[in-house]
Amino acid sequence: RAQREAVVSRHGQLLEAANKWYRQQLRTAPAAIAYLKKRGLSGEIAARFGLGWAGPERQGLAAAVEDYNDQLLVEAGLVIVNDEGRRYDRFRERVMFPIRNARGHLIGFGGRIIGPGEPKYLNSPETPIFSKGTELYGLWEARQAIRSAGMVVVVEGYMDVVALAQLGVECAVATLGTATTPVHVQKLLRASDHVVFSFDGDKAGRRAAWRALEACLPLLRDDVSLRFLFLPAEHDPDSYVREFGAEAFRAALREAQSLSQFMLSELASRHPMDEAEGRARCVHDARPLLQAMPAGALRLQVQRELAQLTRLTPEELGQLIPLQDVPSG
Ligand code: CTP
Ligand code: MN
Ligand code: MN
Ligand code: MN
Ligand code: MN
Repeated sequence: RAQREAVVSRHGQLLEAANKWYRQQLRTAPAAIAYLKKRGLSGEIAARFGLGWAGPERQGLAAAVEDYNDQLLVEAGLVIVNDEGRRYDRFRERVMFPIRNARGHLIGFGGRIIGPGEPKYLNSPETPIFSKGTELYGLWEARQAIRSAGMVVVVEGYMDVVALAQLGVECAVATLGTATTPVHVQKLLRASDHVVFSFDGDKAGRRAAWRALEACLPLLRDDVSLRFLFLPAEHDPDSYVREFGAEAFRAALREAQSLSQFMLSELASRHPMDEAEGRARCVHDARPLLQAMPAGALRLQVQRELAQLTRLTPEELGQLIPLQDVPSG
């Protein structure tokens, strides 16, 4: 345990040293600065999120750390060792987004290329201190705004968080290109009792929203509000807020669908509800979802609406979908 903490703190020191270096490099990288400007970001917002630039040198970080051969640089995901045992920087020619945990400790990076190429974003690998399935980008930076807005907005990408903040919507955080997990939802509900998911308007975003709904179900409580905002198909929060402005985005947030609306409308859209067979499949699909919900007023409401939707009596539905009487925590 003490050993783990020592490793964590050494990782942290290395990551901070790298971040300092990347931030310095950004100041003298005209192409990177032009890229951020083109995306509507000011120097002030770049500084607030600690954005940096990893240059093209193969061992650029050698200038930033005491010992480039330190094995911890590899463990921290900053340096890669190739088959011939040669070391080189993982992040090169990328705009760097430092990722902090909820306590403000630096735990990893995301890096975006500014020209064509693959992958568009490169992230720190899973390390002893970084796991994508549990962290939310921007949670540390947004903590005060979340409190004063009384809500947290969940988006897909780094750029969505930063662009929203640039235009004054500072309460956004991002899942790091992974599916929303129950651990994410726990962290979100610890930050605020009002969560709005706003993923990209494309098909992938819609699927991501459904995965998020599934992750939310076991954690539902009658005193929280979980909502889903669906943007026009060609938009993500970044492009939307830049095209239509922060007021339009805030208005859209106010119109966001409730979790139960999303769940029932999605279920109803999958099968022909004017046929007995379609309604039967709807009940079939709803079963694991309803069973994942803790007992409470919301579950009763959803049960009732589902019975109406599938033209069953509440008793019939109750027999088809037996529910346990476990209340939420
Ligand atoms: N992502 C990733 N690796 C990729 C692509 C995406 O880790 N190769 C993650 C990143 O966290 C990214 C998020 O998934 O921010 C959303 O992906 P996408 O919508 O494709 O990117 P945008 O955030 O819209 O990126 P940009 O606006 O910079 O093009
Ligand atoms: Mn509230
Ligand atoms: Mn996308
Ligand atoms: Mn996107
Ligand atoms: Mn985008």
